[in-house]
Amino acid sequence: MKRSTIISLLKQSQAENLGSKVNVKGWVRTKRGNNTVNFIELNDGTIVHNIQIVVDVDKFDPELLKQISTGACLSVEGTLVASQGKGQSVEIQADHILLYGSASPDTYPLQKKGHSMEFLREIAHLRPRTNYFGCVLRLRHAMSFAIHKYFNDKGYFYLHTPLITGSDAEGAGAMFNVTTLNLQNVPKTEDGKVDYSLDFFGKPTSLTVSGQLEGELGALALGGIYTFGPTFRAENSNTPRHLAEFWMIEPEVAFNDINDNMNLAEDFIKYLIRYALEHNIDDLNFLNNMIDKELLERLHFVLHHDFVRLSYTEAIDILVKSNRKFDFEVSWGVDLQSEHERYLVEEHFHKPVILTDYPAEIKAFYMKQNEDGKTVRAMDVLFPRIGEIIGGSEREENYEKLLQRVQELGVPEKDVWWYLETRKFGTAPHAGFGLGFERLMLFITGLANIRDVIPFPRTPMNADF
Ligand code: 4AD
Ligand code: MG
Repeated sequence: MKRSTIISLLKQSQAENLGSKVNVKGWVRTKRGNNTVNFIELNDGTIVHNIQIVVDVDKFDPELLKQISTGACLSVEGTLVASQGKGQSVEIQADHILLYGSASPDTYPLQKKGHSMEFLREIAHLRPRTNYFGCVLRLRHAMSFAIHKYFNDKGYFYLHTPLITGSDAEGAGAMFNVTTLNLQNVPKTEDGKVDYSLDFFGKPTSLTVSGQLEGELGALALGGIYTFGPTFRAENSNTPRHLAEFWMIEPEVAFNDINDNMNLAEDFIKYLIRYALEHNIDDLNFLNNMIDKELLERLHFVLHHDFVRLSYTEAIDILVKSNRKFDFEVSWGVDLQSEHERYLVEEHFHKPVILTDYPAEIKAFYMKQNEDGKTVRAMDVLFPRIGEIIGGSEREENYEKLLQRVQELGVPEKDVWWYLETRKFGTAPHAGFGLGFERLMLFITGLANIRDVIPFPRTPMNADF
């Protein structure tokens, strides 16, 4: 008999399906009952809800029923009937049960009682079987799909940028080296430095921190592109918002200025929120009930309000006048900390905020320089509970000005000559940004720690699973 998914039975069952024979396969969430009837809650991951299996105890081998406990995997054939109990529309009256795999109640770690997120991180191989992670993983899928759909529908092209790179896009210097040199016996040049000419690529390489520089090459040929791939940062930031390996979406668009860029960012995020509300409301309802009672309200709020737009300079003014004691004191020129960003969003404006025109000193070399000689056309989108969710800018398209920044910041020209050439040959104004996928997922799920919105988090001192 062909397997039915639980989502199809719970969502698509019509009156005429009642009484038909069905087969479902999944994992036992709970089993309860008495000497005559057992109720098994079965989940197959297609939906947060379980289907109830009603077992007439007399019809089954007691040994089999004894082995069916939380975590066991079953195939069940039976009759689809209208449910007597509340909370579900249909249930299955079991005829045959095949036990694929039992899960000993003495050792299976996911018993019915609630588990802390910290504990679940230690069993990341099993946590996809919890309702929380089922919701997170279905939402991650939905958001990934929606991202591709959004850009595809707008005529942007998905560009595949390399993960191994010889340049440092953000100039942050927090990169993972990629090498095949023998670390026990590193070849040295005459002056005692590592001899990278003997390494795999004949030069130092690392895992990329961003696909932007290559993304710009695509935009200056195809018009509008986006990347969506893993990026890597070796910064030792043990915070609820940083991962060493995270996914980033980076649209880059020829002929866009910073205002177009802001409009795109706002429209894009709102589209994703709307998509989640329209396609994953069961998951969002579960998370709203179990994790964060204000989740749905917050999603709707952001969807229906314009983001506030103001300059870095105006933001500093607000922060200074707030008389708030911050851990990091603010003055013009400092990089904003998440406490400052969250003050602006959560306490001052009560809305998402887009800050623009940051001091050149605290931003990357490629950002378009403003007339004032001090600031660049950067934009950061700041969100409630998260702080920075997007970073981007209009790009410096003037060859001389870009070269000057490259030299001032000591970016090796031999690493970025190809990037500079786009400004020599048919340069064009353009702009783009990067959305941190897991920061988006924090917002969409209401979860508090970024380790809980990616299946297998990579953080300092942790690369298990
Ligand atoms: O602000 P960032 O560093 O910008 C760039 O990488 C640009 N090249 C993007 C562009 O203009 N194309 O990173 C972009 C976003 C941040 O706003 C944040 O959401 C996320 O990436 N991000 C991280 N997410 C998780 N863990 C980390 N360690 C992150 N670092 C940045
Ligand atoms: Mg940034």
